[in-house]
Amino acid sequence: MNESALVIIKPDGIQRGLIGPVLDRYDTPFLRLVGIKMAKVTRALAAAHYEQLRNKPFFEEIINYLSGKLNGIGSVLVMVYYGDQAIKRCRAIAGATNPEEANPRSIRGAFGRITTKGVYENVVHVSSNAKEARREIRLWFTPAEVRGFSQHIQQSKAKGRS
Ligand code: TYD
Repeated sequence: MNESALVIIKPDGIQRGLIGPVLDRYDTPFLRLVGIKMAKVTRALAAAHYEQLRNKPFFEEIINYLSGKLNGIGSVLVMVYYGDQAIKRCRAIAGATNPEEANPRSIRGAFGRITTKGVYENVVHVSSNAKEARREIRLWFTPAEVRGFSQHIQQSKAKGRS
């Protein structure tokens, strides 16, 4: 099933010079890059992005993290990848949420860390499912910024996938 996935290189990834290594790992024949841009992350955008996690104890910390307060970096690099099982593939390349548990060959396993405050600085965000991916792509991109936007979005919707 073809679908789209949103991937973000978070402020720690930008700060540590990991744009090249991360893009390289996503540059596979199975994933087509259909959108990419630098985005300034306001607190409001970070809160909207993580709205599903607003009741978690670490919510404030991840808002500070994504909006650059932890690293002093206010911009992130946001991509949309499209292809068969794009979400599963992109999440496998990222690795497990907790960098200590992530496969050492994954992005998070190789480059992530846990801060002294206990935040997982795990370099990348990847959409968790197709519904979330659609919501996130609309939040971060205008339709004109994503090649074939309506086609990707309508296709997965028409098939009744959540
Ligand atoms: P989550 O959406 O659960 O994970 P993922 O990014 O793998 O889909 O969590 C969002 C981010 O919150 C995660 O990337 C890192 C951070 N986080 C913590 O700092 N501590 C935690 O215990 C969890 C679960 C997440």
